[in-house]
Amino acid sequence: MSSKAQFSTKIGLIAATVGSAVGLGSVWRFPSEVQANGGAAFLLIYIACVFLLGIPVMLAEFSIGRGGGSDAVGSFRNLAPGKKWWFAGALAILTSYLILCYYMVVAGWTFEYMWESITGHLYQPIENVDGYSSQFSVRMQEYISDDINPLIHTFVVIGINLGILLFGVQKGIERISNILMPMLFVLLLAFCFVSLSLPKADEGLKFFLNPDFSAITPSVVIRALGQAFFSLSLGMGVLITYASYFPKDTRLIKTSFTVSSSVIFVAFMMGVIIFPAVTSFGLQDATLKGPTLVFATLPEVFAQLPYSQVWSALFFLFLTVAAITSTISIAEVSIAFMQDRCKMSRKAACLTMLLPLFVLSTACSLAQGSWSDIKLFGMNIFDLLDYLTANIMLPIGSILLCLYVGWFAPKKFLNNELTNYGAITARTFQIVVFIIRFIAPVLIASILISSFLND
Ligand code: PFF
Repeated sequence: MSSKAQFSTKIGLIAATVGSAVGLGSVWRFPSEVQANGGAAFLLIYIACVFLLGIPVMLAEFSIGRGGGSDAVGSFRNLAPGKKWWFAGALAILTSYLILCYYMVVAGWTFEYMWESITGHLYQPIENVDGYSSQFSVRMQEYISDDINPLIHTFVVIGINLGILLFGVQKGIERISNILMPMLFVLLLAFCFVSLSLPKADEGLKFFLNPDFSAITPSVVIRALGQAFFSLSLGMGVLITYASYFPKDTRLIKTSFTVSSSVIFVAFMMGVIIFPAVTSFGLQDATLKGPTLVFATLPEVFAQLPYSQVWSALFFLFLTVAAITSTISIAEVSIAFMQDRCKMSRKAACLTMLLPLFVLSTACSLAQGSWSDIKLFGMNIFDLLDYLTANIMLPIGSILLCLYVGWFAPKKFLNNELTNYGAITARTFQIVVFIIRFIAPVLIASILISSFLND
């Protein structure tokens, strides 16, 4: 049973947890958020959110998972028998599953871009389009709005996930994370090196590193908070599930610092890669912004480097690796639930998890193409799932989690898990509990409220 499964080594445990956190959120979403929200000012607030709020909430999830020793629902049930707190776990499972459905589609795009870089198709000139800048945005539109190709690539990524997940926690998730995470860091460093050696790299660095404090507005703070939660995989049951695989002697505080610092490191390095490249090639005023930064702006940069295809293929391999180590963690939340609650075998749980995933991912993929006109609440299904999960379900789940751990969890459990059986000082413990009780729920509620006010 998955509740008995454990990560076998400390390195493996860190690689898997960092792998879950470091994903498209840090490598794709973060640079576009920085660009849209005032550069360095956003970076600073993001870092503050990760350390001041992200780590305490991560500790809350770790405690529930390790203390409860089961899937997201089972852990709450074990800790609060006869109470309704399991609902918070159920919400987390549903949220993570819905995220998986559209996350797989974006992971499919990164895979497709890797493949199109290898074949060279990405860099073939398009007729009647002048200039690279528009060429790559046309290409992106062409790839994403096609019905068949993105779907095939999404299915390939789902297949890769299945292949890993069938092997279980140690032989699947842990082993593949041990291989992929070092690879991810090596590729990241290689790209930093390339980017920093470009001419005029310093201008991009200035935008990324010189804070303009006048750019800080309440909405920037709220977006930074949302980015921090998404990039740390908080509020979705992932960390509860993974922590149930932590051995009892795992130091939760140390682990949470390692995971959060790695996420910040990767996000920071992505800024160091992207912004110098953008200024170096004079693309800062281009219309290519936001989510297209990675898919349309960077190919333009690669096109101007020697061995374009090689750099491009390596970069999209890097994105694909980051995505896959996250998708396996999201899928594991539902698989653990089915194994523990429904007593299914691992194989049956993996296959059951797949069926609705195929349907919903297909819908999300087609939502960029021929189904783009099918709208619910004014949004296509891709945007709707993104909005629902990130702006509504995730904040509600995180608030419930903080309320339970801060106010209702048995004191002995909290003390044992959070202090790791006395390994941290009483003062640190008090600060963490104070944030979980008072600060985190209020700030998370602000995301929720602001998302309603923005409508
Ligand atoms: N933290 C991952 C990222 O930044 O891409 C995304 C993620 C992982 C979201 C796990 C949700 C989740 F359950």
